[in-house]
Parts: sequence; C-alpha cells; structure tokens
Amino acid sequence: TVVRISNDSLALACGADEVAAAFDAAGCTVERVSSWGMHWLEPLAEIDGQGFGPLQPQDVAAVLSGQSAKAIGPIEQHPFIARQQRRTFVRAGKTRPLSLEDYAATGGWEGLRRARDIGSEAIVTEVTTSGLRGRGGAGFPTGIKWQTVARAQAAQKYIVCNADEGDSGTFADRMVMEGDPFLLIEGMAIAGLAVEAMRGYIYIRSEYPHAIATMEAAIRASADIVAPFVLEVRVGAGAYVCGEETSLLNSIEGKRGEVRAKPPLPALEGLFGKPTVVNNVLTLAAVPWLLAHGGAAYAEVGFSRSRGTMPIQIAGNVKHGGLFETGFGVTLGDLVDDIGGGTASGRPVRAVQVGGPLGAYHPPSDFHLPFDYEAFAAADGLIGHAGITVFDDSVDMSRQARFAMSFCAAESCGKCTPCRIGSTRGVELIDRISERKGRAPDRIETLPQMHNAPKVERTLGDEIALLEDLCETMKFGSLCALGGFTPYPVLSALHRFPEDFGITPVVEP
Ligand code: NAI
Ligand code: SF4
Repeated sequence: TVVRISNDSLALACGADEVAAAFDAAGCTVERVSSWGMHWLEPLAEIDGQGFGPLQPQDVAAVLSGQSAKAIGPIEQHPFIARQQRRTFVRAGKTRPLSLEDYAATGGWEGLRRARDIGSEAIVTEVTTSGLRGRGGAGFPTGIKWQTVARAQAAQKYIVCNADEGDSGTFADRMVMEGDPFLLIEGMAIAGLAVEAMRGYIYIRSEYPHAIATMEAAIRASADIVAPFVLEVRVGAGAYVCGEETSLLNSIEGKRGEVRAKPPLPALEGLFGKPTVVNNVLTLAAVPWLLAHGGAAYAEVGFSRSRGTMPIQIAGNVKHGGLFETGFGVTLGDLVDDIGGGTASGRPVRAVQVGGPLGAYHPPSDFHLPFDYEAFAAADGLIGHAGITVFDDSVDMSRQARFAMSFCAAESCGKCTPCRIGSTRGVELIDRISERKGRAPDRIETLPQMHNAPKVERTLGDEIALLEDLCETMKFGSLCALGGFTPYPVLSALHRFPEDFGITPVVEP
C-alpha cells in the first residue's frame, strides 16, 4: 500500500513523522508529499485518493483495515478543496517537493520554456495582461515593476524574492517553498529573463528552517535547468522589518536591517545599487502558470482590479484553518463562516483581523466585503498578504490595540520618530485608557508627572483624542509600513469596538 503523508512543517508539528513511521512499520510504502493545506486534518494520510485525518500512530491499524472513523472520503472532492481555484497551489498535496520528475510531469518548466521562446518584452506584456499585483501586501502591478527594471540600463540587475513572511497567521510563502520549491525557482528564472537579470536571491526568515533546507536542495537540483540564471538563499536574523523591501536589501548586503528612504525605488537602485525586482514568493510563484497558460487566462478570474487568484490563509480561532486559494471577490463572511466553519471554540465570531499584525480588525458587519484590494481599502482596512485571523467574543479589543503598538515598538528599526517613540507612547496611552475601565468617562484624572512639570488633567475623551492624533502622526509621518500601518489595527479596534475602551457601556446580548 502506498501512503502519502505531508512533510510540510505544520504537518510535522502535528506529528506527521510519527504517523509515517507507523505506516512504514505496518509494511506500507510511505511517500512524503506537500500539504493539501487542510491544516485541521493534519497529519493527513492519502491512500488511493482517499483521505484520513487527523491521524495519530495508533489510528494506523484501523485505517489499513478499512475501519477508520477518521476517513474523510476522496480528498479532491472535499468541499474545502473542491471549492478552490488553484493556480499557484496546483501541486499542493500531490507531488514530492524535491522530485524533478513529479514537477515536470505536472506542467513544471512549461512557463519557463514559453518565456524563453517569446523573450523579454513579450514576457512583460503577458505579466501586464494578467493583471498580477504584488502579493506581499501592497498590490503594486507586477508588469509595471518588471517593465521599470527591464528598461533600466545597467550591466548587472537582480531578482530578489521576499520570503521573510513575517505576518502572524500567514504561511503561504512557507508552503510554496516547502511544498513546491521548483515553482518559485521557475518564477524567478522567468523574472530574470524578463528584465535580463542573471542573479537571484531568496531572502528567507530564519524561523523557516525546513523552507531554507528545501529551497537550497531545490536550487542545487535545478541549477542546470535555469542556467545561466544563478540563485542563492540568504537567511534573515529575526527582524520583522527586514520584510520591508529596502531593509531586506540592506540585510542581504550585510548591513543593518534599516529602512532606506524611497526614492530611489529598488527597481532603479536596489541591491548593491543596481536595478532590482523585489517580489514576494506568491507573486513569483504565480508567474509560471500565467506564462504557460497566457496572461489573459490568468485574468479571467478575479474581481474588479484584483485579477487572478489569492492564496488566502485562514487562521486563529477557526474550525477549518488552512490555505484556501480562490479568485478575488469571495466575501469575508464566506471565508470565515462557510469555508472556515466559524470559530473553533464554538463561540460567536467577534473580530477578524485581515492582513497580518498591521491589518484592521473587522466586526461581522463587514462580512459582506469582497476580498479585493480596493474594497478593503475603502473600509479602512487592507488585505495585505491575505492572512485572516479569527477571534471569538472573549477577545478584549483594547488588548489587541495595545498589542499592535507594542509589536511596533519591539520591531521598529528606529529610523523615524513617529514609529520609534510614538509606538511606546501608544502603549502607555492604551494602558491609561484601560485603567479607567469601570470609572465614569467624564472623570478628570491627573497624570503623574516627572520633576516639577505642570500637572496634566485628562478625561477619557482627551485620552482618546490623543490616541487618534498619535495614530494620525504615525500614519502620515512614518517612513515605512510598520509605523505607517500600525494605526490600522489600533484605530479599527477603537472605532469598531468602542465598548472595549470604555467609550459606550457594554450591551449584553
Ligand atoms: P509600497 O506601496 O511602497 O510599494 C509596493 C511595491 O511597488 C514596492 O516594491 C515598490 O518598490 C514598488 N513600486 C512603487 N512604485 C513603483 C514604480 N513607479 N515603479 C516600480 N516599482 C514601484 O509598499 P511596501 O512598503 O513595499 O509594502 C507595504 C505592504 O507590505 C503593506 O500593504 C502590507 O500589507 C505588506 N506587509 C506584508 C508583510 C508580509 O509578511 N508579507 C509584512 C508587513 C507588511
Ligand atoms: Fe523604521 Fe518604523 Fe520608520 Fe519603518 S516606520 S522606517 S520601521 S522607524
């Protein structure tokens, strides 16, 4: 019997190795494949297309005798899989990550072959036609970025892949690197052809040891296929801000991971001062499909100006967490209630943070929002790297706002004042607001002052106005998204859940 079990790090953390060993001991042939992305079912075993999960070693005998209560039926027909539109995660669950044979047998290298046939200008045209936008979070049109680099005159250019996936609750970059590493390599080689760059770097966060090892092995195995394009992995050192593109470039150059002012854009003066394409893993991993099938085919799905598919990462207090790739336009409510199955705790959903730690918190009244860059921006939010984190009604939103400020204080690169100092003042301010809970909102409180400074007296309203003012300063006065976007979680918590800040009395349902 051939049993397929994922070796993705989430599956490993859930005990996939032990389950694989138990199948092996029972005389089965175990194949280690990528993950389907149904995280609540890991470790998931597949035998002749049938799924079983989540398994423990002691479940193996029942699975092999056809008596398992953990049988989920044919995996491809599972609603979580059947409803997806997979363009990037086409191979997820189906192939052995480091098998060149599996990769080629499932359409691998077709995009690169076509790219070689059509040449630089036509590649950029295909990418522009596809409508592909930067999947790291900002959604900048990839075709325009590539065109800028292609037109820049320089003897040396670079392709840099941002694999510093720092957003809490996100894992799609990791799943590509661990599960389908040749896809990323192919995407980078195509980018190299498009802009005439011969060298690429993949900057991977140190917290992803399995992704680092898999990418390094895949680079060695495919070196001849992508030659003369040469790739190298660089490992981060644990700073969130190194996911910001200019700070990432500094880090690759061996400098302190501090943000550079833009302009100059990395597209014109990037790595070592040369024109550089900096793209997220998901952006580059979308490229082989769209080259092989044509940009127009990629653009067929999607919503408004957000074309193609997005690998959405469902996490937090949710029943069915995992990777769900679909065309833009699916509503937030569908993602949380229908696809995600509601909270894992069974309590009502109270808030959903979309776009990582710098994304806004949305109450269920936003569940009609379509997953689309512009629709979320219009609702004072962002889709970012498409991570959604679900919270039930036990969450205290003033604690979440405090967390955003303290995260910013911990991760700030220190270059600009609103972020470096504002975030620390923000933590103190939210603490003072929290201390007032249960007291009358119009009560005047005297703040402790140092030395002989004049005494400061404030009502709750004064403190809230100060927090809003601080957020405004951070939003418009910060150099990069860390300081500039921290106001999103803070203000959305404050404005959408005011009762948690003592602004209106809590109404019991
Ligand atoms: P940005 O809007 O400054 O730039 C987006 C990209 O477009 C950059 O690569 C920039 O160099 C490029 N660009 C802009 N104008 C250009 C032009 N005229 N020609 C060529 N290229 C041009 O946004 P930024 O600061 O790069 O990213 C912010 C986003 O990062 C946020 O939306 C946030 O969601 C996301 N983010 C993602 C994280 C993750 O783990 N993936 C973590 C933190 C934030
Ligand atoms: Fe550094 Fe914060 Fe300024 Fe970004 S906003 S450059 S992280 S200090």
